[in-house]
Amino acid sequence: MTKNTITLELNQIHKGFKNTSGELKVLADISLTVQAGEIIALIGPSGCGKTTLLNIISGIAAPDRGTLRQSPSLRLAYVFQEPRLLPWKTVEGNIRFVQDNFLAAQEGKEVREKLLQKTGLLAYKDSYPAQLSGGMKQRLELVRALAIKPQLLLMDEPFKSLDLALKFDLQRLLLTEHEQEGFALLFTTHDPDEAVMLADRVVVLSDKPTQIHQEMVIGLTREKRTKTNPHIQENVERIIRVLLERHI
Ligand SMILES: Nc1ncnc2c1ncn2[C@@H]1O[C@H](COP(=O)(O)OP(=O)(O)OP(=O)(O)O)[C@@H](O)[C@H]1O
Ligand SMILES: [Mg+2]
Repeated sequence: MTKNTITLELNQIHKGFKNTSGELKVLADISLTVQAGEIIALIGPSGCGKTTLLNIISGIAAPDRGTLRQSPSLRLAYVFQEPRLLPWKTVEGNIRFVQDNFLAAQEGKEVREKLLQKTGLLAYKDSYPAQLSGGMKQRLELVRALAIKPQLLLMDEPFKSLDLALKFDLQRLLLTEHEQEGFALLFTTHDPDEAVMLADRVVVLSDKPTQIHQEMVIGLTREKRTKTNPHIQENVERIIRVLLERHI
């Protein structure tokens, strides 16, 4: 797929949940377009519905209202907020399990071993998830998602609670793979720095009932994005202001 073709289009998505006092309105009128190859960060208060939105995009949950259009036979991978490795399968088994639906055996093996090599997990391919550290499990979740060669990758707070070096390693791997494979990436985060450093576009969500508060295009090549760049600092500060508005 080339750039400027639409991978995903959300139109006026609404979603609520029944609770003891009636209905909890979560998503209210979310419209968003994801272009092929684009990186979008979703940032917003805890409980505003980021996971709910990713669940709707992936088909796990249905919207109450609104439409969702995807490019035909879109190959989608989803790294969940909570780890979802299968404890009874090995590292390799966890990856093969998802690859079998999409890739032929030989291609699957090549892609898998290349990614395991790059993430330092190849030596652990016969280990079980319980034998891995938390950081290794997070790497494996990313490898498993990339291993199906997705066109759209959804990631829900993928870099939370990682030490700094591991976080940068994982981000670098993700950006290199993105550069080579050209998938669209939609990820959630609570970290404005991370959003601005990684994304082409940052979508700031309000609190419930949730709407898009602001969309920021980060018009800088990734090489120019350093924390000391005034344009980056300005965007980070803008996001913080929007997020903290209701507390001032
Ligand atoms: N299956 C469900 N049934 C009832 N309420 C739900 C369900 N799923 C989510 N909610 C509620 O919907 C709201 C949004 O939840 P969601 O997990 O999408 O938020 P979030 O933005 O991902 O939060 P966080 O940043 O903490 O991960 C919350 O108030 C949550 O309690
Ligand atoms: Mg969430």
